Amino acid sequence: MARSYFIHTFGCQMNESDSQRMGEALARAGWRPSAAADAADLVLVNTCAIREKAEDKLFSALGRYRLLKARRGTRIGVAGCVAQQEKDNLLSRAPFVDFVLGPDHLEKVPELAESGGVETDFLDTEQYLFPQADPETSRGKATAFVTAMKGCDNVCSFCVVPYTRGREVSRPYAEIVREVASLVVVGVREVTLIGQNVNAYAGGCSFADLIRRVAAVPGVMRIRFTTSHPMDLSADLVRCFAEVVQLMPHFHLPVQHGADTVLERMRRKYTIAQYEERIASLPEHVALTSDIICGFPGETEDEHRQNLEFLRRTPYDNLFSFLYSPRPHTGAILKLREWGEVPRALGIRRLEEVQGLQMERTLRRHRQRIGSVVEVLVEEPGFGRSRENWTVHFDGDAGSGDLVRVRVDSATLVSLRGAQVETVDRAPRMALKRRLTVVSA
Ligand code: SAH
Ligand code: SF4
Ligand code: F3S
Repeated sequence: MARSYFIHTFGCQMNESDSQRMGEALARAGWRPSAAADAADLVLVNTCAIREKAEDKLFSALGRYRLLKARRGTRIGVAGCVAQQEKDNLLSRAPFVDFVLGPDHLEKVPELAESGGVETDFLDTEQYLFPQADPETSRGKATAFVTAMKGCDNVCSFCVVPYTRGREVSRPYAEIVREVASLVVVGVREVTLIGQNVNAYAGGCSFADLIRRVAAVPGVMRIRFTTSHPMDLSADLVRCFAEVVQLMPHFHLPVQHGADTVLERMRRKYTIAQYEERIASLPEHVALTSDIICGFPGETEDEHRQNLEFLRRTPYDNLFSFLYSPRPHTGAILKLREWGEVPRALGIRRLEEVQGLQMERTLRRHRQRIGSVVEVLVEEPGFGRSRENWTVHFDGDAGSGDLVRVRVDSATLVSLRGAQVETVDRAPRMALKRRLTVVSA
């Protein structure tokens, strides 16, 4: 019987997508997926290093898998950003780990699963080949991530990503368009173009042109992208929100802080005035979301007040806020002494203030939507997302891939709830099979 694998994924969309590619590489080498870690011959942990908490999660997961290994001889691999950051140190911290692989070596997972060892070198830009998605693993799903670029050339002083993901490399647009077309054939209707700094895309055309090329693929109903840096926001990309009908009206544009002095220490390369000017150019129907870091080194009471003021006047649809976590290699950790660490309790208090402000606003906004009708792409029966990326639960008979209208009856902080009132477009289930026969003939 074929050996089985289980992948435990932490972190961002990049990791989710990488886990899928690693699963496909294992399947090509004859492994089959296991529904649970307990029953698997191989457990692969795909890790995130963005904050200390993310790293703690890895070590507590490894503690559990170690017991499995003792009981059943399970092989254990560590992939992702902690693997890249720690390299062979991981083997001394957790000697029961059989192999370690960085995000540039997804295709090598079957080989390493056999041989053990460590593979964490970054590949040269010219050498790097983006792994091609196997559309079969997306069959029947309404949405898919499509890698547009990898790495990050920015130097935000809090962020570990440039050290775990290496330099920016953009994927040639023809490859992206081909992958999108292959996903549409198996029923995918929404694609999210992903990259740590996706709007810096330069794979033979601009990011705005990439969106237009993807929109031209027949059958693509919705396009999203994440994540963007405010400095790389072009006027052309802003135009896409008005001109490309498939581009959904949601924009995640992390500001990180509302005080110029903090932005400067963070090396974000923009001022609040520049950020505000850019978001003012967005069409009004675009739901804007953001990330905020509280307790960044040296953050004064006055800077925190400026942060709150900025947040009060900026109509974010949603906000993700984090307590600053010192990361290895980063600019801010080297300056920690000079700038001064914000005491943890104070950082948490500030974070709670920011979260309180946003929670109240998000709840108010969600409640305002009660009684309205929203368009939902169904991801699972009874669940999907609106054009603005709001999470919607509903009663109705629609299946995955259907596009429906839902009347909103109630709202919580995290989602809207309602009833399906109309089907706009059914997922082309039968047509799909026919088309496939032609393709494979
Ligand atoms: N590439 C994205 C960010 C990816 S990380 C961008 O430039 O916007 C996702 C979020 O994690 C960041 O936006 C930031 O708010 C948060 N983050 C990153 N490093 C952090 C750290 N050291 N401590 C706390 N939050 C951090
Ligand atoms: Fe990190 Fe900044 Fe790059 Fe985003 S743009 S991944 S925050 S270094
Ligand atoms: Fe985490 Fe790496 Fe993504 S650090 S957020 S998994 S790029």
